[in-house]
Amino acid sequence: MQTWEMLKEECLACRECGLAEGRTHVVFGDGDEHAEVMFIGEGPGADEDAQGLPFVGRSGQLLNDLLAMIGLGREKVYIANIVKCRPPQNRDPLGNEQDICIKWLRRQTALLKPKIIVCLGRIAAMRIIRPDFKISQEHGQWFERSGYYMMAAFHPAAVLRDPRRRPDAFEDFESLRKKILEVCERTALE
Ligand code: URA
Ligand code: SF4
Repeated sequence: MQTWEMLKEECLACRECGLAEGRTHVVFGDGDEHAEVMFIGEGPGADEDAQGLPFVGRSGQLLNDLLAMIGLGREKVYIANIVKCRPPQNRDPLGNEQDICIKWLRRQTALLKPKIIVCLGRIAAMRIIRPDFKISQEHGQWFERSGYYMMAAFHPAAVLRDPRRRPDAFEDFESLRKKILEVCERTALE
């Protein structure tokens, strides 16, 4: 039986794709290892690469605000990304980089066994929910698969780029709040 500690140690040493070249830190993931709610982003940005932690830059601040809005402390969730090393110039992670790196996320998900998975942005939604996922039309919709409830919300960076997406982001998190009340047993909302 694999432990979080073993998985993290193995992942931090990974050099299996080209993204290893430019990284400062592998951003494994962070949060409550017993969380019922898992967030999946795209990949580390500059701040995350510098600190080795997911969503610690401006996007992370907005994520924290959205979590606070629904009374969900960040320490109660688990946060990871599709790729663990920063793509150069913050470009989208390539298909083959995702194909190689996704195994870490699979193993994290297998250890966590969350009730709810929230994809942050198009890249995560296309990888986790459906390859032809249309984030502008399908954000906030719930899908049930492999025993998980899944939903995609706009990426916080996309909301920062276009503030007109704010009401949609609020709605998606409000819908998450309702789903937590419905299906989670241990996740207390403030
Ligand atoms: N954007 C992401 O997709 N992931 C992070 O960890 C930070 C910003
Ligand atoms: Fe390994 Fe993923 Fe980093 Fe590529 S992005 S080197 S697969 S941890």
